[in-house]
Amino acid sequence: MNMKILNYKYLIITLAAFFAFVHVRAQETEFHPGKLWFDNNQRLINAHGGGVLYHEGQYYWFGEHKGERSNAAWVGVTCYSSSDLYNWSDEGVALAVSKDNTSPIVAGSTIERPKVIYNETTGKFVMYFHLELKGQGYEAAHVGVAVSDKPTGPYELVKNDRVNPGEWPLNMTEAQRNATDKVEDYEWWTPEWTKAIENGLFVRRDFESGQMSRDMTLFVDDDQKGYHIYSSEDNLTLHIAELTEDYLSYTGKYIRIAPAGHNEAPAIFKKDGKYFMITSGCTGWDPNEARLLTADHVLGEWTLHPNPAVGKGAELTFHSQSTYILPVAGKKDAFIFMADRWRPENPIDGRYVWLPVLFEDGMPVLKWFNKWDLSVFDEK
Ligand code: GAL
Repeated sequence: MNMKILNYKYLIITLAAFFAFVHVRAQETEFHPGKLWFDNNQRLINAHGGGVLYHEGQYYWFGEHKGERSNAAWVGVTCYSSSDLYNWSDEGVALAVSKDNTSPIVAGSTIERPKVIYNETTGKFVMYFHLELKGQGYEAAHVGVAVSDKPTGPYELVKNDRVNPGEWPLNMTEAQRNATDKVEDYEWWTPEWTKAIENGLFVRRDFESGQMSRDMTLFVDDDQKGYHIYSSEDNLTLHIAELTEDYLSYTGKYIRIAPAGHNEAPAIFKKDGKYFMITSGCTGWDPNEARLLTADHVLGEWTLHPNPAVGKGAELTFHSQSTYILPVAGKKDAFIFMADRWRPENPIDGRYVWLPVLFEDGMPVLKWFNKWDLSVFDEK
């Protein structure tokens, strides 16, 4: 072969390799809420209803793996890692569904809203998630607990059940505990029924079996106490339950928040000793208006405030539903609101909406950004 042609060939191959390299290595430096978000393998990040753990300089994003047709769990809980929050590497499946039909997490069960916390006493990573047993719709309302020695997994299922059987919420009065009215005494959605729910009708109904647990998150306070926050009582009332020191069980201490208030998708953070929670209403996969709750103590009185989202699209929380509020490591008062834009007809196409939590008069505010980066937190 002619030398000139050979050189030419080399040049083309070198250039192609260079451009492929540049393409693969292209680093994100911004968030693009609602846009496609790719991992290090140029595949779509598949971690819906997720949460983020920060551990030893790395962020770990856990979420629901979704397919194209079904919202059920056919793969399990996925994990991605990042050091800058913009660029995520696929760490594979952290909690795999089982092939065993007798397993509560058999393929085809429903695994939603996984969250992971690290237990400093045991050195274990503890995952909680909303579990619905295969073929039972949303009836089971279980919480699943899984454990791993490494942040990325593999996680092993430890147990699944309802929450705190045989325990009363701290903030339910004697009269409410002892009331004798029954579910069948009421017609659903009537004012009398709402009043009865407020008075703990469903807490009493589920007292023996344990309280229902659907949409959920986890929170570790400054004193390392862990809390499980979940939609209970047929999604009508949020509960916060204190976890044991190893985060694997409940201490029996729990409270009801906004009884009959219909809050889902809880996401919580703490700033200047105050607790803030953003939730959604209950409209299934469709977005609705976010709500804000605040408290001075995590198991104390929670106060409801108006929608923290403002501006165009705020009435539907910018077409998204909260899943987690992520404190940015090393930046004071920097929190990222993580939310999902669900696509139930093609679940894998669900989008992630990450927005900065801004503060006005000490209260969190969510505003839409087509794109933004972490420097927004330096502009205070
Ligand atoms: C939503 C909930 C999701 C999922 C969905 C099922 O309200 O936030 O996590 O459970 O309902 O319809």
